Amino acid sequence: MTNQLDKKSQAWSALFSEPMSDLVKRYTSSVFFDKRLWQADIQGSLAHAEMLAAQGIIAAQDRADIQRGMAQIVADIEAGRFEWKLDLEDVHLNIEARLTQLVGDAGKRMHTGRSRNDQVATDVRLWLRGEIDLISALLATLQQALLDLAAQHTQTILPGFTHLQVAQPVSFAHHLLAYVEMFARDAERMREVRARTNRLPLGSAALAGTSYPLDRERVARSLGMVDAQGVPQLCRNSLDAVSDRDFAMEFAAAASISMVHISRLSEELVLWMSQNFGFIRLADRFTTGSSIMPQKKNPDVPELARGKTGRVVGHLMGLLTLMKGQPLAYNKDNQEDKEPLFDTVDTLKDTLRIFAEMMGGLTVNEDAMRKAAARGYATATDLADYLVKKGLAFRDAHEVVAHAVKSAQLAGKDLSELPLTTLQGFHAAIEADVFDCLSLQGSLDARNTIGGTAPERVLQEIALHRQRLG
Ligand code: ARG
Repeated sequence: MTNQLDKKSQAWSALFSEPMSDLVKRYTSSVFFDKRLWQADIQGSLAHAEMLAAQGIIAAQDRADIQRGMAQIVADIEAGRFEWKLDLEDVHLNIEARLTQLVGDAGKRMHTGRSRNDQVATDVRLWLRGEIDLISALLATLQQALLDLAAQHTQTILPGFTHLQVAQPVSFAHHLLAYVEMFARDAERMREVRARTNRLPLGSAALAGTSYPLDRERVARSLGMVDAQGVPQLCRNSLDAVSDRDFAMEFAAAASISMVHISRLSEELVLWMSQNFGFIRLADRFTTGSSIMPQKKNPDVPELARGKTGRVVGHLMGLLTLMKGQPLAYNKDNQEDKEPLFDTVDTLKDTLRIFAEMMGGLTVNEDAMRKAAARGYATATDLADYLVKKGLAFRDAHEVVAHAVKSAQLAGKDLSELPLTTLQGFHAAIEADVFDCLSLQGSLDARNTIGGTAPERVLQEIALHRQRLG
């Protein structure tokens, strides 16, 4: 049996008078990266063929042949036996050509009422939907790891910074929960992107729809492209369906934000691990040595994650720029959506996986954290608040405390180490109970609003997060 697609290297059809040059073939072909979409491609084709048969557009026997051929192709790809051919340009043509080789005419009928334009848009959406689910699960695992660590450290005090200057004491648990909040929002974003990704382009054909009586809703249902109520989700304009890639841009944006969050955590891990802080140690399996300096243990994983954030943000820029100014409808430019998407997914998944594990294996030096909090006049605000409670206006209290800090600095002491009489020299309202608020613990306990660092509050938040994650 002859296979038209096998002749593609010579010409697309009788219309072409010379074969494509080898250079152009290599330039335009995508099979060596888009073969990654094979499962989605076959899933989409099977749903399409099943609908064609149900609508009486192809025979039941054709459908059965297509299913049999596809089963063989799946087995071959899984066993690494499938021969991907550059000449066949992309994953779609490779699979279709092989199908026709295996089952003959039924294979040639599979593409009825379909174009590669709506096919590829469907494939990418199906594939990305699955990846978003994996990413969401990894985001949950990372949050769990942070919560487990936080639960051990609601009483561990470290300096909270603004401008990287010691500001006020916070608990290490509270600090970790800040990241849990970020990753929870990242997961929320992923859920929203998933809903808009999970819509069916198939049935739009090349750009204008098709004259065959397709049942698009049936295809959507069989591909699970339905909302929470089971209502089929269709792209409702054929021109838009085959051409726009906003779901990919949105995903890359959500992934970039997630990586930016990871990069912030990375930077803190790097700082905390440095000799000047000495707050934490990463498990050895996450660090590397130096080939020249035997004493070194470097936080390569967080540093690399910080670096890879640039790469993911770059992919977002690439996708936005790819779409910019494209006229309706499909343009070959869109073939370039895949590599940045694939790399974004790979980078984010690896990073989340490694961070969940790394945060689980963190060693915390509670002593070093507490000492650093005690060194930087972290309770100065508490002294001001104390004076306000004694009747001073906040601005006046602020001024009084500034004098107190200045003289404590001169004496090389913390506020809590100044004798009561010295403190009273700054304001007569100061009494012996001032030392409760000057302690790190007192400062922590006092911040007992929703979202505050008081251990009691933080324990509640941990419980709420755990409930949410189920
Ligand atoms: N490989 C192509 C892509 O990724 C498939 C669609 C090709 N369509 C076309 N009309 N050339 O976008």
